[in-house]
Amino acid sequence: MKEITIIKPDDLHIHLRQGDAMVFYAKESANQFKRGIVMPNTVPPVTSVETVLEYKNSILNIVPEFEPLMTFKILPKTDPMDIPKLKKIGVIAGKYYPAGATTNSEDGISEWKIMRPVLKAMEDSEMVLSIHGEKPESFIMDREKDFLPIVKEMNREFPKLKIILEHVSSRDGVEFVKSMPENIVATVTLHHLLSTVEDVINNSANKCMPIPKLKEDRDSIREAVFSGDKKFFFGSDSAPHPKADKECLKAKAGVFTSPVLLPKLAELFENNSCLDRLEAFVSKLGADFYKIPYNEEKITIYKKDMVVPNEVYGVIPYLAGETISWSL
Ligand code: DOR
Ligand code: ZN
Repeated sequence: MKEITIIKPDDLHIHLRQGDAMVFYAKESANQFKRGIVMPNTVPPVTSVETVLEYKNSILNIVPEFEPLMTFKILPKTDPMDIPKLKKIGVIAGKYYPAGATTNSEDGISEWKIMRPVLKAMEDSEMVLSIHGEKPESFIMDREKDFLPIVKEMNREFPKLKIILEHVSSRDGVEFVKSMPENIVATVTLHHLLSTVEDVINNSANKCMPIPKLKEDRDSIREAVFSGDKKFFFGSDSAPHPKADKECLKAKAGVFTSPVLLPKLAELFENNSCLDRLEAFVSKLGADFYKIPYNEEKITIYKKDMVVPNEVYGVIPYLAGETISWSL
């Protein structure tokens, strides 16, 4: 049987949620990933030394073998004086949500300029700025494109600040990241490598923010990833919502991709004749950017069919009911 063994990967953008359901989500991630950049948009959000430590401990209680890399949510009221304290307890990034851009972001930022002191403190502390790069006022397909000038301004004012355009979804976003200095990079999700807006229209389980766009946008993301460009690394943005919140008139945004990530990525890379680049994409390029060592553990993925279940822990997984030609 054909198989591939790679360094156990990192999921550099993951929503583990909270409460009872977190047990399933955390185990699902730890199964395939050694580390994860854990997003802070819980309710209430993760914003302080206390809430970071509490959240980190609750994850480690479930999956002690997993290394949660902690983030905090940047709020309009965030005190720049807190940044060095967060850095000291190991917080690796601050997450910037434009107000209303996505799930649990109503308390986000409406005017980036009021955040200058926080961004300066992050630059000084060498804390990564992780951005949900969408302008909520714009037409849904233009939201990412219209946010890019803000990233450009941030980079002009804070040239040393490391910035991630999370879950890049458009050709404009890809071209922008390529054109910027090396401290401006992007994470790429499995679903933005696969889906277009048509998949969202046909199935509300695929709804997410930013919305998957046109074929040419998807092709541009694929080209960046399959070429091995070191500015584009993996972050799943796996974001589970209970089935009832997806199969309804106003479906929540978020796709639960965790159960299929490595098998589907292996299939996609193989089909595009670049299976040899998978390890860098999921296990090396992100670690290089965050300046963390590569994991020592390995994982093997097998060329063996996997049928994606219709439901996992009360959530519809991405590609439910489909067969993937690789499995763990
Ligand atoms: O689709 C999304 N869901 N995009 C995000 O940015 C957040 C996420 C969630 O938390 O559900
Ligand atoms: Zn996310």
